[in-house]
Amino acid sequence: MTKIQNLLSSRRKENVSSQPQSVAADQSQSPVRHIAIIMDGNGRWATRRHLPRLAGHKAGVSALRRVVECAADENIEMLSVYAFSTENWHRPRIEVDGLMRLFWETIRSDLEKLHRDGVRLRHLGRLYDLAPDIQQAVRESMDLTKDNKRIGLNVCFNYGGRAELVDAVRQIIADGRQPETISEEMISSYLYTRDLPDPDLVIRTAGEMRVSNFLIWQSAYSEYYATPTLWPDFGREDLLEAVQSFQQRSRKFGRVLPTSV
Ligand code: FPP
Repeated sequence: MTKIQNLLSSRRKENVSSQPQSVAADQSQSPVRHIAIIMDGNGRWATRRHLPRLAGHKAGVSALRRVVECAADENIEMLSVYAFSTENWHRPRIEVDGLMRLFWETIRSDLEKLHRDGVRLRHLGRLYDLAPDIQQAVRESMDLTKDNKRIGLNVCFNYGGRAELVDAVRQIIADGRQPETISEEMISSYLYTRDLPDPDLVIRTAGEMRVSNFLIWQSAYSEYYATPTLWPDFGREDLLEAVQSFQQRSRKFGRVLPTSV
């Protein structure tokens, strides 16, 4: 094992023994309002078990249920999850169809409980490119849960950061906005995420270190956290570890901190 790996592994062990079972108490110090997650590794999880890839995505839905509950318990205001990217259309037809069906079935099966639990659902992405029954299920779920306050769950489905910017620019031009009226705030107000806080923390599972076109405008100053855990295995402990890592960082937003002058 290398020195760095050794250090990380001993830190990990320390964390396990000293790690608080809840981060809620620390939320006043360095609050995490919004966590965005790139849920990666479903395919590998399935392949390791000699299962079809779709079994990995189904296990991914179970992980998502766990994480939403844990995040709500920890007073995290909002989660955004990357469930289907604009690039995922290029996957084999059987997987794309499976993911579409899984999305629709999950809304149908989980909506009532999510609503009871105070989850406000939002869809981020190009809804108009999805099948009419999915569009309808998404609209119904957003309408039913729109007044819920416990936690926001933004499902990025048929989402791409570049596509989002293209959609924004098209709308800005269609609205006849003049060049001098363009500002960062104005562009933000044309994104799918208008009215939502930017993510404080972006988590990516399965050991990958890429942004993959996820919330590229909104995560300009987010903290990144990568874990080797495959998404279907991700749970409460992993979420708390990510939050704990976030709480140990100093966010500078391009400035110099008073302590470092
Ligand atoms: C990436 O893992 C994961 C996806 C492209 C889909 C994520 C979908 C879910 C977690 C379930 C569906 C969600 C809802 C809301 C119904 P991968 O397939 O690229 O994994 P790999 O890199 O190991 O192949």
